[in-house]
Amino acid sequence: MTKIVIFISGRGSNMEAILKECKNGILKGIAESVLVFSDKKEAKGLQTAENYGIETASISSKGKKRQEFDKEVITLLSNYKFDYIILAGYMRILSDIFVKKYSGKIINIHPADTNLHQGLHAYEWAFKNKMQETKITVHYVNEGVDTGKIIAQKTVNLQGCNTLEEVEKRGLNVEHKFYPETLKDVLEARS
Ligand code: GAR
Repeated sequence: MTKIVIFISGRGSNMEAILKECKNGILKGIAESVLVFSDKKEAKGLQTAENYGIETASISSKGKKRQEFDKEVITLLSNYKFDYIILAGYMRILSDIFVKKYSGKIINIHPADTNLHQGLHAYEWAFKNKMQETKITVHYVNEGVDTGKIIAQKTVNLQGCNTLEEVEKRGLNVEHKFYPETLKDVLEARS
């Protein structure tokens, strides 16, 4: 069974989708989460993870330099055995030190085509540009921001979306299925 650590910063709906699939769905017997970590103590998703019986931890990043914070996270992670770090709405850019340490083991979901849009506010970008469709991207994390090797992409139909909320709703619906499915493919190919 592949052991994963999930990183979140807030709501954690993608994390919950993954935990659900680990418990009783397509990731059952394939992946298990040994820890959910947040850089925000107040992240709502931490409680959700606890409700699933998953160990949680958080370290506040407030006022810390990127490398200094990431070193603390590496120290925390040294207490756990795991194969992959799954970023699920983790809004902090990872330092070179961190990415090098876990090279090839960090996977992220980005709510846009990473060839077209990197960084924050990807649904706002799609909405403002009146895009008829956008792509969700699951990719490996490298030293850049959303520049790592693409694992898989899934199109979201945005036709008829009149509000940003509608864009987000449609996108998240796709994310919640697509991320666990893609992880399944990656982990199965590995074993
Ligand atoms: C998701 O849409 C995720 O793809 C996005 O943040 C949201 C987190 O929601 N991630 C990024 O924008 C990363 N740059 P969640 O906490 O409910 O999963």
